[in-house]
Amino acid sequence: MTAGRQMTSLYCLTVRFMRVRMMFRCGAVIYGEFQDYEKGDNMKTLILSRSEVQKCITAKDVLEKVEYVFREWGEGNIVQPAKINLDMSRSGYSSWCNAMPAYLVSSNAAGIKWIGGFGENVKTGGAYIQGAIILTDTKTGQTLAVMDGSLITNLRTGASAAVASKYMARKDLRKITIIGAGEQGRNCLRCFDLVYKNLTAFVVDISEEHRKTFIDEMSKEVSAVLVDSPKAENAVRESDVIVLVTTAKKPFVKEDWISPGALVLAMGSFQQVEDNFALSADKIIVDSWAQASHRGELKQLVEDSKISESDISTELGNVVAGNKEGRKSDTERILTVLVGLGAHDICIGHHIYRKAKEMNLGCYAAL
Ligand SMILES: NC(=O)c1ccc[n+]([C@@H]2O[C@H](COP(=O)([O-])OP(=O)(O)OC[C@H]3O[C@@H](n4cnc5c(N)ncnc54)[C@H](O)[C@@H]3O)[C@@H](O)[C@H]2O)c1
Repeated sequence: MTAGRQMTSLYCLTVRFMRVRMMFRCGAVIYGEFQDYEKGDNMKTLILSRSEVQKCITAKDVLEKVEYVFREWGEGNIVQPAKINLDMSRSGYSSWCNAMPAYLVSSNAAGIKWIGGFGENVKTGGAYIQGAIILTDTKTGQTLAVMDGSLITNLRTGASAAVASKYMARKDLRKITIIGAGEQGRNCLRCFDLVYKNLTAFVVDISEEHRKTFIDEMSKEVSAVLVDSPKAENAVRESDVIVLVTTAKKPFVKEDWISPGALVLAMGSFQQVEDNFALSADKIIVDSWAQASHRGELKQLVEDSKISESDISTELGNVVAGNKEGRKSDTERILTVLVGLGAHDICIGHHIYRKAKEMNLGCYAAL
């Protein structure tokens, strides 16, 4: 081959490579290169970024969907195997991921969320929770959509706390404590603010900077009065609801700080309240026993045989569906453990998929 022909071939290859790369980078609809995908609409996969997901949903929508899924759970209309955890800490990073499949019978929505916690991000100002949601057509198996999963997780986690509170807290609740001034804390506060008026929220975090930034930012968004609370004990003692959303790996909330009538919403991935509280609470409610028995607040207690299924009053879905009693008196101390239902993510993801199609958002790709 002459030097000239070699240059031409190299040029053609480079141009072709750049075209394909541009298509991927621009998120273009990849037709020409993959003819098979022109066969039918159902062969395309919708790709949605975080900002596109955000355009398709409001906190109010999420609250409604979360309550609906709890009710469907209580009525037996959800298929959801317990999440599987992948520990990646042998990489030298404190990273983990959960696989969370779910199928909602009534809305015929199926898929999986692949989500995890990545402590390294936090050191550089990034988000701890990262992941994606994949939706599957129940008839053909086609991958309908792949979308950002972190925003949906954050929104539905906040909404789960507020819905749990609606069913399990005292009706006259005025004071809440949010321990963990991070992403989940922000979304919990947003949702409480939608559900309750005249709230005072004590903001607790080991990081003074996180507390201050949280209060600065959130006071512009919510009507609740926010109180900077360096001491968890004082805040917890005064509160009707205590929301635990920290990344702490060891219990730090004491049992005797929790007043009669209080509801503790334990939502972190590890235990945050000392054993005595779970052992003395009037009721323990979980979102899913299959999951709560091996993840979050109760995991260690179950492993140590201090708590078993017979100690659990019921799953929250049964209370929301009206099949089981929630709070019986204003003095009960209730522990509610919400480790997160994949069914919430799939329900919200499915709603977003339909909205995005209506709004012409996102781009299609061949997988
Ligand atoms: N239950 C669910 O459905 C669900 C969903 C998403 C995340 N999570 C879990 O919620 C927790 C918080 O996640 P995030 O995304 O808000 O993380 P984040 O990093 O945004 O915020 C965590 C906050 O906790 C604070 N913190 C850590 N240890 C503390 C301690 N001992 N006392 C007080 N504050 C402490 C940190 O300073 C930080 O501000 C994690 O454990 C995460 O895995 C649960």
